Amino acid sequence: MKFFIDTANLAQIKEANDLGILDGVTTNPSLMAKEGIKGSEAVLQHYKTICGLVDGDISAEVISTDFEGIIEEGKKLAAIHHNIVVKVPMIKDGIKAIKWFTDNGIKTNCTLIFSAGQAILAAKAGATYVSPFIGRIDDSGWDGVELIAQISNIYSIQGFKTEILAASIRNALHIIKCAEAGANVCTCPLDSILGLLKHPLTDIGLAKFLEDAKKFA
Ligand code: E4P
Repeated sequence: MKFFIDTANLAQIKEANDLGILDGVTTNPSLMAKEGIKGSEAVLQHYKTICGLVDGDISAEVISTDFEGIIEEGKKLAAIHHNIVVKVPMIKDGIKAIKWFTDNGIKTNCTLIFSAGQAILAAKAGATYVSPFIGRIDDSGWDGVELIAQISNIYSIQGFKTEILAASIRNALHIIKCAEAGANVCTCPLDSILGLLKHPLTDIGLAKFLEDAKKFA
């Protein structure tokens, strides 16, 4: 399973990348706004900076919702760097645009996936990735990880090549459960990635080893 970091924060991207386990980055308009980035030129420049930091797929989301607008915006984003993946919302014109990008060799990430039907449609259009929003599904009282398992099963039966990118991850357990359910990628906040490191017995064990090491140091 690939690890992406889900942020537009450069310090966090660097910290995750320094671990040596990072395969890519996902962003969305809310994450970009959180970093105080204003204006289309600044947005393009920010994506360029991220592409310079991480050697892997970088999802950059369009904000147009009509076919022509999505294509125009997506082409500009894709021109920034060969690692840019154009992130397109799961709407009618979005599906049309994903098909167009697929036919023109541009990678896509179909975002805001909340059902298996949406994931089938995105795969039919040739999306490189689909992003089911695990945390938001859990928040609404359903089981997000179950959706990952369902999509994984369908894609494997049907032979779809689209990769399942588990998004809206809230904690380390989500990452483990998504790995079990067949996600190809997990995009996670830095805290959730670092959460995988933690176990109290590791801390207790290390403290004891270091204490005992003093006896022969
Ligand atoms: C990433 O691709 C998604 O936009 C992101 O994971 C959504 O996360 P949230 O539900 O925490 O906003």
